[in-house]
Amino acid sequence: MDTMLDPIDALKSDHEAVKVVLGNLDGYLKKIGGQVSDPLRKNLINQLNEITSFIDKDLEIHFKKEENALFPVLGNYIGIETGPIHVMLIEHEQSRQLSKEFKNAISEYLSNNKYENIVSSGDSLIQLLSEHIDKENNILFNMAEMQLNNEEKNKIMEKMRSIK
Ligand SMILES: [Fe+2]
Ligand SMILES: [Fe+2]
Repeated sequence: MDTMLDPIDALKSDHEAVKVVLGNLDGYLKKIGGQVSDPLRKNLINQLNEITSFIDKDLEIHFKKEENALFPVLGNYIGIETGPIHVMLIEHEQSRQLSKEFKNAISEYLSNNKYENIVSSGDSLIQLLSEHIDKENNILFNMAEMQLNNEEKNKIMEKMRSIK
C-alpha cells in the first residue's frame, strides 16, 4: 500500500506537526514565565495566537479524523465504550477543555496582566497532548496495523479526506 494512502501514516504525520507546535509553545511559555519585561511578555503572549489557531483548526481536524474515520472502524475489533479508544476519546475532550482554559487565560491577561494561568494551562495542554500522541503512536496505531485490512484502510482514508 502506498504510504501516502495509509491512514495510520497520515495520522502519524499529523502527530509530528502537533509535536513541533507543542515544542514552540513550550518555548514561548518558558519565556513568558521567566524574567522578561512587561512589554516583551505582552509581545510573546500576542504570538500565542498562531498556536491557538493551530489548536482550533488543525488539531480539531486531526481529532475528527480519528473520531469519525479511524475509531468507528477499529472499534469493530477492539470496542469503543471501553478500552483504548474510550480513553483516547476522553483525552480529546480533556484537550478541548484545556484549550478553552488556555484561551480564557490569554484573554484574562489582557484585562488583568496575570500570566500565571497562561503558563499553567499551556503546560497542562503540552503534557496531555504529548502523552496522548505517545499512546496513539505506540499502542493504538499498532493495534490498528494488526487488525485493519487494506479495504478498511482505504475506507478510513477516504473518510479522512472528506474531513476539513
Ligand atoms: Fe487522538
Ligand atoms: Fe492523534
